[in-house]
Amino acid sequence: MDSPTPQQLAQSGTLEELYGQLGPIRMGAGWAKPTPSLWAEPKKTFQPHSWSYAQAKGALDAAGRLINTELAERRNLILQNPVEGYATSRTIVAAYQMIMPGEKARSHRHTPNALRLVIDAEPGAYTVVNGERLSMMPGDVVLTPNWCWHGHGNDSRACAYWLDVLDVPLVQLLEPMFFEPHPDEFEKEVVVPNASPMHFPWADTERRLAEAEAKSHGHAAEIALGDPALDTMALSMIKLKPGQGTPARKVMANNVFGVAQGSGVTEVEGKPLSWSRGDVIVVPAWQQHVHRSDAGAVLFRVTDEPVMQKLGFLRESNGAH
Ligand SMILES: [Fe+2]
Repeated sequence: MDSPTPQQLAQSGTLEELYGQLGPIRMGAGWAKPTPSLWAEPKKTFQPHSWSYAQAKGALDAAGRLINTELAERRNLILQNPVEGYATSRTIVAAYQMIMPGEKARSHRHTPNALRLVIDAEPGAYTVVNGERLSMMPGDVVLTPNWCWHGHGNDSRACAYWLDVLDVPLVQLLEPMFFEPHPDEFEKEVVVPNASPMHFPWADTERRLAEAEAKSHGHAAEIALGDPALDTMALSMIKLKPGQGTPARKVMANNVFGVAQGSGVTEVEGKPLSWSRGDVIVVPAWQQHVHRSDAGAVLFRVTDEPVMQKLGFLRESNGAH
C-alpha cells in the first residue's frame, strides 16, 4: 500500500481503516497493542538452572582431542539457559574453558568485561592481562575489564580448567561491541607483578573469609572481590559452614554462582538445584533463592547489581513472599 496522505488519514471512517493506514507509515495505535509494553513486575523469562563441571570436563577433554587453539580462539563450552539461545542470564554469559599443556590462547581485547574462576590448574597456567602475567591456581579469580588485552597459556603438565563469566549479552543489547585480535598474536613484553588489581588469589580469599566468618555471628560470611570488580559485574565469595544456609533473597539482579569448594543445594523459587565443586548455578533476577550446605562450601557469586544500581533499578524484596 502506498503511504497515505494526511487527508486520507484524517478521513479514516473506522478504527480498522485507521489501523490499516498506520501500517505503511510504521506507526502503531498505542491503545491497541497486541501485547502490553508495561507489566506489574519482572517477567521470569530466564530459568534457574545448574551445570555440571564433571560433564563439562568430559566434553572439554573430548574437545581437547578434536580442536586446538590454532583453530579455536577459545576452547570453551557456553552455558546456555534452557529458555533462550546464547546467554546464561539476561546480561551475563558463563562458559567453561580448558587449555592443554603447552598451549597458548591468542591475545585479544573486547568491550565486554570478563573474569574467570579457576577450577583445576597446576602451577604454570596463566593469563596475561595488559602485559602482566597472572598465575591461575584453583580458586583464583582473574579480571579482564573492558578493552584490556588478554591471552592465556599453560606451561604446566596438566590441563587447566576454569569458568569464564562475561557481560556479552548486555553489550549485545546495548550494542557497543568492539573486538580486536592482538596484532602480534601474543603480547611480547610481559612482566610478572607481585600483585595486581586484576588478580584475586585464593589464599587471600581464604584468609579474608576466615576473618569475615569470625565476625559473622553465625551467618554465612560473604566478602566482596573488588568494589565492584567491574563496571557491570560485582563479585563475592560466600562461605557456608557445614549445615549452614543463607537467608532467602529476592533481588532485581541476575546472579551466577560458581562452586569454588564443597557441595550443597540452591533452592530457587522452590526448585532444588544440587551442586558440587566446579558446578555453576544461575539464579535469574527477581527469583527467590537460598543456599544450603551440609558439608560446607564456598560459592563464588557474579552479579549484575552494579548495572541495576547505577540505573536505579536495583530492588530487593523484604524476605519471603
Ligand atoms: Fe576474551
